[in-house]
Amino acid sequence: MTDKEYYDLVQPYHDAMKLLLTRLEVLNHTIYPSAASNPVHTVQSRIKKKASIEEKLMHRGLEPTVDNAKNVLQDIAGVRIVCYFTGDIHNLVNILKKQPDLIFIRERDYIENPKPNGYRSYHIIFGVNVCCLDAVEYFPVEIQFRTISMDFWAAMEHRVSYKKAYANKEQRVEELLRYSNTLEEMEKEFEKYNDNPRL
Ligand code: GTP
Ligand code: MG
Repeated sequence: MTDKEYYDLVQPYHDAMKLLLTRLEVLNHTIYPSAASNPVHTVQSRIKKKASIEEKLMHRGLEPTVDNAKNVLQDIAGVRIVCYFTGDIHNLVNILKKQPDLIFIRERDYIENPKPNGYRSYHIIFGVNVCCLDAVEYFPVEIQFRTISMDFWAAMEHRVSYKKAYANKEQRVEELLRYSNTLEEMEKEFEKYNDNPRL
């Protein structure tokens, strides 16, 4: 894919992502009555790089074309929402699922079912309508909801392990899982003081 093709491909994903980010911003300050209990700690977002799109397609045995990217990849636009409590994540997910113009595509609940290495996060993909001059088309945006401790673990694991080759894999995974469980325990203690309602 040429640079021009890449630019044209990602433009509407960028638009879809911005629309979803605005919606999340509105929810963040309207979901609970008190501003002191806003659910979102930090927000990150990114559009997948050209090289990364091409690598992922080739890894799946596909030609790195614009059509394949559009048809196969659902994480060209990605948003990461770091919340204080898991209760906040459930509330935000429940509300987003009720918004009639967001198209639910898929979810993966790695909070309820962590990965064997201890990865915890709630992934959900929504189709977001983008209105152009004479048409409406939806584009997928992946949201990863995490708590601060899930994000800390994932960032560190990504730094030292994720998709990397290293010796003593089993031992490392065991160790990472132990840290993940410790963080989860700690988080549950803090959650006792979460007085936000369940929505
Ligand atoms: P990808 O091909 O990597 O996108 O995986 P997938 O489409 O099967 O989706 P999945 O929901 O399992 O994970 C996608 C994203 O979640 C990754 O790109 C990472 O950002 C994050 N992720 C998943 N597993 C791990 C993990 O073990 N460690 C870390 N640090 N991040 C993970
Ligand atoms: Mg993915």
